[in-house]
Amino acid sequence: MSKVTENDTMAKLVALCKRRGFIFQSSEVYGGINGFWDYGPYGVTLRRAVEKLWWDYMVEEREDVVGLDSTIICNPRVWRASGHLDQFSDLMTDCKSCKRRFRIDQMEDPTQCPECGAREMTEPREFNLMMKTFVGPVFDDEHAAYLRAETCQPIFVDFDQVRITSRQKLPFGIAQIGKAFRNEINPRFFTFRSREFVQMEMEFFCHEDDAMQWYEYWRDQRWAFYRDQLGFDETQLRLHDHDALAHYAKAALDIEFEFPFGWGEMEGVHHRGTWDMRRHSEFADKDLRYFDQERNERYFPTVVETSCGLDRICLALLCNGYREDMAETKKEGKEAALRVSLSLPACVAPVQVAVLPLVKKLSERADAIYQDLRGTYRAEFDEGGSIGKRYRRQDEIGTPFCVTFDFDSLDDQAVTVRDRDSMTQDRVALDQLCTYLGERIPV
Ligand code: GAP
Repeated sequence: MSKVTENDTMAKLVALCKRRGFIFQSSEVYGGINGFWDYGPYGVTLRRAVEKLWWDYMVEEREDVVGLDSTIICNPRVWRASGHLDQFSDLMTDCKSCKRRFRIDQMEDPTQCPECGAREMTEPREFNLMMKTFVGPVFDDEHAAYLRAETCQPIFVDFDQVRITSRQKLPFGIAQIGKAFRNEINPRFFTFRSREFVQMEMEFFCHEDDAMQWYEYWRDQRWAFYRDQLGFDETQLRLHDHDALAHYAKAALDIEFEFPFGWGEMEGVHHRGTWDMRRHSEFADKDLRYFDQERNERYFPTVVETSCGLDRICLALLCNGYREDMAETKKEGKEAALRVSLSLPACVAPVQVAVLPLVKKLSERADAIYQDLRGTYRAEFDEGGSIGKRYRRQDEIGTPFCVTFDFDSLDDQAVTVRDRDSMTQDRVALDQLCTYLGERIPV
């Protein structure tokens, strides 16, 4: 089976995501809106499964990280303190000929339009990425507010409240999953760079003497998450240390995945120093220092951050899983036909097991098996169309196992379990089915 690596993989993947209802343009009937994507039934199930894995791994299974769910809009002074209103901008330029707009740092030659080739580019100018709105009935600057550009700032602002009510002592972390918004100049590569996306961030508060150790610890934890929880091969991942650091940062790196369009960042791990806590303390005029009883010292916590984009992780899983091969077919005049499959890990596959009666006549017995399994697994029952077509559909939505109830099942009380990737078929006794699937599907 070949993993498709040609340049057109993205186009094929985008088409598959639309065809099977994973991800498609937002408000498509109106022509869509650039940089915004809707997740259909299978997409949202995939996204929630990844989100749950992250939350369990980062929060539920630990004693030193607690959760937060803050609002998307907060007091605009938050963004003044964080530096976003003054500095969160990209340099852009417009082509006077074709009117397209580009980020300077993404152009090979900023004097020439990458679309039409004209050398009529405007002078570079700053473009702030914050999305602006208004709160209340008056639309003036006094009532302006911003959709959050990252989920971490409310964590810093709520630090004291969360610390006191959760009775945590340093070192400990606060995690949040939620929407972030950026008015990207050039949304591209499907969901990779969107204007609305989901971030999963964890801010770990510690003493500055221990921060480098925690930075290395979290780098290793996050790498292990991609390898052990999501099943990425280590050759598809790399660490990229930042050459240029923000003036307050001591260290920063990206965890990158090799997308069909090149290496791209899935997650950042950042040693943010005491910058955030100092700034919010200063702008809010509130002492956000922590009194450490063991050290008998009052200090601003140093922050080590892990920050990933849920949409980018899902995109990496989809790219990683996309396969094309030739498979046997019963189509007239053909021995083999193209088979497209999504090799998603069973733990995040939207459908983990499909139950298919060979023919409709056997539906009642097959449905009983489905009803049994759906309590434990994300299961689907499909009785319409030829068995070949139903297998192809399950392959395309990434279902790792198909259970088929056939005429022999009536006699031998067994079913055929087909593996999506190897296409091998095992005959499994009905009373062994739960054990068989339990060994292969983590729940
Ligand atoms: N709090 C730090 C922070 O926000 P970032 O590198 O700007 O750092 C973190 O963003 C992660 O958020 C990225 O690694 C990426 O996965 C995701 N992300 C950022 N911008 C994105 C966009 N426009 N579309 C989709 N995901 C994005």
